[in-house]
Amino acid sequence: MVTAVYPGTFDPITGGHEDIVRRGARMYSRVVVGVAHSRGKNPLFEPEERLAIAREALADLPNVDVVSFSGLMVDFARRHGATVALRGVRSVTDFDYEVQLAGMNRLMLPGLESVLLVASERYQFVSGTLVREIALMGGEIDRFVSPKVAQHLRAKVASRKQG
Ligand code: COA
Repeated sequence: MVTAVYPGTFDPITGGHEDIVRRGARMYSRVVVGVAHSRGKNPLFEPEERLAIAREALADLPNVDVVSFSGLMVDFARRHGATVALRGVRSVTDFDYEVQLAGMNRLMLPGLESVLLVASERYQFVSGTLVREIALMGGEIDRFVSPKVAQHLRAKVASRKQG
């Protein structure tokens, strides 16, 4: 039985992230999605909102748990007894960053293998930043996030406009 962790900021979870989780859930007996606090990234959604949105989006997957974490991802992996850290790569730029992250994580926790899944073609250009920007400017986001996530994004944009 292999447990994999999939850490990220998920501000909010996109179709690209969901694709990685769904593929990971077919590869490993358990996947623990870790919603990082990532305060430095100044997220649009609060940590509790990002957690609730990701939980809702992945509710149909019985071997997937969604939890929040702060601190190092290796400590999060250790707490959950994970031996695999899943990450998605869309481009060479992602790959460069992921190789560095995997290397540092391996130095800190040698028992954790980083497994990089190549993003599906339809999500190759999707990023949280661009999805948030399109939503904030009233553009069409339904191709990039699941329907419930799109609703949360629209509600957040509407509440921002009122506030
Ligand atoms: N499809 C589409 N988009 C994808 C994607 C995919 N398959 N995989 C990643 N992305 C996008 C995300 O939407 C996000 O876009 P944004 O930055 O424009 O919002 C970007 O790629 C990266 O996001 P994500 O995969 O969520 O990772 P992250 O860089 O936000 O978080 C952590 C990575 C969890 C490692 C980091 O945030 C963290 O907090 N780590 C804890 C501290 C630590 O351990 N650091 C490492 C020390 S070695």
